[in-house]
Amino acid sequence: MNYRPSNPRKLNSEDISPLLFEIAQLFTPSTPIRLADLFAGRRRQINQLLEAVAEPGRHAFIYGERGVGKTSLSQILALIVPAGRQHVLHARKACIAADTFETIWLRFFKELRVHQNENGREVTKTLSEVYAGRDLEPDDIVREMRNFSANDIPIFVIDEFNEIRDDGRTAGLLANTMKALSDDGVAATIVIVGVGDSVAQLFAGHASIERCTEEVPMPRMSNDELSEIIDKRLATLGLTIEPDARWKIIILSRGLPTYVHRLGKHAASRAVTNLRRRICEEDVDVGIEEVLHGSFESLRTVYEKAIHSNQPGSLFKEILLACALSSADDTGYFTPAAVLGPFEKIRGRSMTIAQYRNHLAEFTTDKRSAILQRMGQERSYRYRFRDPAMLPYVLMKGITDGMVSEDAKGFLRFPEQGRLFDDMSN
Ligand SMILES: Nc1ncnc2c1ncn2[C@@H]1O[C@H](COP(=O)(O)OP(=O)(O)O)[C@@H](O)[C@H]1O
Ligand SMILES: [Mg+2]
Repeated sequence: MNYRPSNPRKLNSEDISPLLFEIAQLFTPSTPIRLADLFAGRRRQINQLLEAVAEPGRHAFIYGERGVGKTSLSQILALIVPAGRQHVLHARKACIAADTFETIWLRFFKELRVHQNENGREVTKTLSEVYAGRDLEPDDIVREMRNFSANDIPIFVIDEFNEIRDDGRTAGLLANTMKALSDDGVAATIVIVGVGDSVAQLFAGHASIERCTEEVPMPRMSNDELSEIIDKRLATLGLTIEPDARWKIIILSRGLPTYVHRLGKHAASRAVTNLRRRICEEDVDVGIEEVLHGSFESLRTVYEKAIHSNQPGSLFKEILLACALSSADDTGYFTPAAVLGPFEKIRGRSMTIAQYRNHLAEFTTDKRSAILQRMGQERSYRYRFRDPAMLPYVLMKGITDGMVSEDAKGFLRFPEQGRLFDDMSN
């Protein structure tokens, strides 16, 4: 990566379009990371995966909410294995609903070539041609995996596993495959990636393979990790950012890297367009408007339906904002009690849970586009946003619609805002 000097010259108008181009390449709100240099944080998860790759017969699961960076992690794994003189062979396939054990492996097999002797002639075929029209069983996979040379480090990533609709058949066959690979000490590593709160939820029957698999939970990103996303890109661009502006991007993103990319991209572009190397808070504010008006048709529709009301003074919008501000556990769930503090801040007076308990329940129904989902028993219900990407959206709407008072806005200011924000969510 080409880092610029720390004190670069002033920008002039010829700099704008090349810099905008570079910004668009570095901030990637809708594509997984492919370059190790641009990948931020996740040290723990990386170490876990490296262990799985290093140990013969060990495999891995990466699971978590949508948009937290699972695919990115699985992709850069190929680039960070300290392979030495060995060679990493990394293949990744994303599953669709109709996929099965056979269709997944045949897609991997399309990329693997074998030399065969046919009538005294050496011919090269893909493994998928070799297996065309034949059944494919765990034993076949094990046999082919054994054929890799000791110089190869093969990694097979099966992404979006949660999409498959087959009542656990594929999971069962994959479990048998992993078990057999493990019993044989075969070096190939299978990494299964998908949306889920636990491996058990993602992968039926995983209990039988617990001993030969590494479980890699992907929580939302920490503020430091989100900050690193910004730093790595700005260093490359030779730009800087005001502390308040940085904090606003981070706090609004709620641990979701996509939003850091979106807001960062808009804010950096605006600064550069105005011939500034330093991103200021106003750049982020304009960025928020642009993100809200941008590519979010589906979020917008769900949100509008969720807060719609013909009754003046209905509080659906305020309550939803309070939900977005309430503190949640690792899987995104919050209690009705956690909503009270933020709700009181928004309303500017004291409130009770009884004033919004029914609203929360209604948010889980189709009438309110099931914007929230609920778990647990009555009296100990917990709620979360069905789509985590909705959270930053609701927050940004709240700010641009003026629902966050000047006093409450303190949480967007650096550096005391950290505490104020915690106040709001306690
Ligand atoms: N460690 C990271 N550093 C920088 N950006 C990241 C990181 N992880 C994810 N992203 C960005 O976040 C977005 C979502 O990442 P992705 O890997 O597609 O998530 P998931 O597979 O969990 O849905 C993408 O735009 C990606 O560029
Ligand atoms: Mg993904």
